[in-house]
Amino acid sequence: MNAVLRITGLALVALLAAPVSIPQALAADDVEAISSDLTLIFRAARKMISDNQDLINDPSKGDKGLSATAVVEQTKANYKTATGKDLDLSDDGSPAAKARIAMIEAVRATMDEAQPLINEQGKGFKGFLPAVFGGRVASNFSAAMAGTFAIKLTAPKAYVRNRANRPDEWENKVIETMFKQPGYEKGKAYAEAVPVKGKPAYRYILPEYYGASCLGCHGDPKGEIDITGGKKEGAKLDELGGAISLIIYQ
Ligand code: HEC
Repeated sequence: MNAVLRITGLALVALLAAPVSIPQALAADDVEAISSDLTLIFRAARKMISDNQDLINDPSKGDKGLSATAVVEQTKANYKTATGKDLDLSDDGSPAAKARIAMIEAVRATMDEAQPLINEQGKGFKGFLPAVFGGRVASNFSAAMAGTFAIKLTAPKAYVRNRANRPDEWENKVIETMFKQPGYEKGKAYAEAVPVKGKPAYRYILPEYYGASCLGCHGDPKGEIDITGGKKEGAKLDELGGAISLIIYQ
């Protein structure tokens, strides 16, 4: 009886304390805004890699001109096209500003590190794909923001190629019981305040779908070997293919 009362008491305290523990600059709507913004920056950067895939895979060229600076500049341009506004990278000391800057720095670090690989002359396919780029940006960002923000590229369990991208329990639940349901509004993010490994957190997850350009690797016939040496998933056009998942620790 006592134990029950104590647990209930703790749960109540946790519930009441939750909004108070959100950093001032990240209260209420701000958490949703920065989540959406970070996924937009991530996608704007990844688009630069998809748009240049043929160039990256070209064995006849050495220097591809895809320096960190060039990719960051194009990321800003893609962001502006997608949102209609300039990417604000000013540092007002807020967690949101720090996270935006860290995302751009993660893109920069990923591209600096990738130079020898993508500039190798005489080699065609180099395995430097949007999802690989995205995975590296995500881990660079999450390492830099450890304990405050984390981002990850994931996918429906049945479609995951890289084990590091497997959905966790919460991601899997959202993907299977919401994103995959026929009535779910396409492209709509889902957010929830839910603890991660015992720490209070705000989670945000954005679904992504296979376009025509994805199906050469992820489409039919299922099981056929694609250019990367992996097995095609047999996915269909516009089917749910992945999700960008963000954690903001509170
Ligand atoms: C050239 C082949 C190729 C194309 C084209 C391609 N992918 Fe992939 N995709 C891969 C490979 C290989 C991986 C595993 C990457 C890794 O090892 O991290 C992957 C990983 C992913 C992941 C991360 C989850 C996982 O399985 O590890 C998502 C999400 C994804 N792809 C979605 C897409 C979407 C959406 C498109 C089109 C816009 C696309 N892919 C185009 C080959 C491809």
